[in-house]
Amino acid sequence: MMAKHDSCCSCCSGFIITMGLTALFIWLSIRVDEPKCYIDYIYVPALNKTLNSTSNSTILFTLKLVNPNKDKGIQYDAVQLRFGLFLDLNTTRLLGNTTVDRFYQGHEKKARKPGSVNGVGNLTETVNGKSHIRVDFGTAVKYKILLWYTKRDQLWGGANVEIGDSGEKVYKKAVRLGNSPVLVESGALKLYGGYRALLIFCVGFAALGLT
Ligand SMILES: *[C@@H]1O[C@H](CO)[C@@H](O)[C@H](O)[C@H]1NC(C)=O
Ligand SMILES: *[C@@H]1O[C@H](CO)[C@@H](O)[C@H](O)[C@H]1NC(C)=O
Ligand SMILES: *[C@@H]1O[C@H](CO)[C@@H](O)[C@H](O)[C@H]1NC(C)=O
Ligand SMILES: *[C@@H]1O[C@H](CO)[C@@H](O)[C@H](O)[C@H]1NC(C)=O
Ligand SMILES: *[C@@H]1O[C@H](CO)[C@@H](O)[C@H](O)[C@H]1NC(C)=O
Ligand SMILES: *[C@@H]1O[C@H](CO)[C@@H](O)[C@H](O)[C@H]1NC(C)=O
Repeated sequence: MMAKHDSCCSCCSGFIITMGLTALFIWLSIRVDEPKCYIDYIYVPALNKTLNSTSNSTILFTLKLVNPNKDKGIQYDAVQLRFGLFLDLNTTRLLGNTTVDRFYQGHEKKARKPGSVNGVGNLTETVNGKSHIRVDFGTAVKYKILLWYTKRDQLWGGANVEIGDSGEKVYKKAVRLGNSPVLVESGALKLYGGYRALLIFCVGFAALGLT
């Protein structure tokens, strides 16, 4: 009687452990880390003080995208980029936009996508003597797990990049665009300005934390 009870019990706990491990394995394999997006390089000839001319309205940039996942690929939709001139907390004047074509990125890979955009308007306006270019990105990604793709996640973010007297960004380090939270809803690309972006970010973050 006792022996039977024991074997039933160990069978039962064995089953529970197996289920637990299976659940853990599934969770680990479907858990994804969103890619990180950076401005790796930016050059605004109009802000190069040694070039005596502000007539060149080009903005050259290199976007860096990093897939932190060890065993998942990422399929990016076209990456929409918007460049603006940061004027104050409430105002960012749109300079231009451009698109990086959709592409696939293998696991733990970095991609550098150079590009350029033609800014319209006065690029030399400053805030407290400093130039900031506001860069926003928006895209959607699907993660490839083994042979399958997950559903699309919207991804967006932005940053104000300070430009120095050389026309390049002041800090050598690549500038992270937002904290690229995976948003449940799209449309964040339309938003500008530190406060609103921050608010949306916080709400998104709280929503992520609750789920
Ligand atoms: C700025 O302009 C000077 C003069 O043409 C040039 O030598 C220099 O390379 C430019 N700076 C950058 C970062 O391209
Ligand atoms: C810039 O302009 C100043 C004054 O006009 C001139 O002395 C200087 O040589 C110019 N520099 C370049 C790189 O053209
Ligand atoms: C503007 O500057 C870029 C980078 O230095 C250069 O490639 C481009 O030809 C310039 N455009 C004009 C119109 O001068
Ligand atoms: C930004 O807008 C808020 C509210 O509309 C206003 O109180 C604030 O003064 C504005 N800030 C600047 C720098 O214009
Ligand atoms: C990008 O710019 C083009 C032309 O300047 C405009 O038609 C388009 O709506 C813009 N896209 C976004 C997302 O702002
Ligand atoms: C651009 O803005 C700067 C700083 O506000 C100003 O000095 C310059 O005259 C403006 N240039 C044009 C063409 O409006």
